[in-house]
Amino acid sequence: MDEHESNTETGTIEVTRRTVIETGTTALLLTTLPRAALAAGPADGDEPPPPPAKVELQINGQPHSLTLDPRTTLLDALREHLTLTGSKKGCDHGQCGACTVLIDGRRINSCLTLAVMHDGQAVTTIEGLAEGANLHPLQNAFVEHDGFQCGYCTSGQICSAAGMLTESRNGMPSYVTEDLTHPVAELTDAEIRERMSGNICRCAAYPNIVAAIKQAAGMPT
Ligand code: FES
Ligand code: FES
Repeated sequence: MDEHESNTETGTIEVTRRTVIETGTTALLLTTLPRAALAAGPADGDEPPPPPAKVELQINGQPHSLTLDPRTTLLDALREHLTLTGSKKGCDHGQCGACTVLIDGRRINSCLTLAVMHDGQAVTTIEGLAEGANLHPLQNAFVEHDGFQCGYCTSGQICSAAGMLTESRNGMPSYVTEDLTHPVAELTDAEIRERMSGNICRCAAYPNIVAAIKQAAGMPT
């Protein structure tokens, strides 16, 4: 039988590993599975989906009431349910920081947390940082210092920097803080780079990002 040939008696198609590589094929596989198999739904023993859950979120100062699959991440709730697409899905694994938002002022990777875990909390996304027509100081500084190229990481960088500056002002040390007895860590370039190390920029705009953060913090750049 040919690699793609149908077996008309069983309604199935033989697909080899080679055809998967050559033809792109998940589409082929999906379109050629026996209809009965697709219509059958979950196989015996599969867990049924959990019932929907309600969550109340204060997002950028506006109340939102959502009914979600409780497995929905905060990032997907923002992007897919509220069309707040400024927060980006880079890796969906907590490795790039593109999805960073602020929860009650603290930065968090929204791809790593479930929306239902934040019931009643205040979420700030990149869309909520500006005040009317006035950009947030970090947004202005990123523009002035060319703190981006493609821009995919930028919303996460800016939200993360906003949270980071608050942490620094509150005296939270970082891994490279030398004097832990000092109430407010001086924001050296090394401090900024370490504190922002969870936000990856594949365009490598790091020097400009550091300069922008220093400007927003009121430091010489
Ligand atoms: S998308 Fe969340 S850390 Fe990469
Ligand atoms: S500006 Fe392109 S990934 Fe950062």
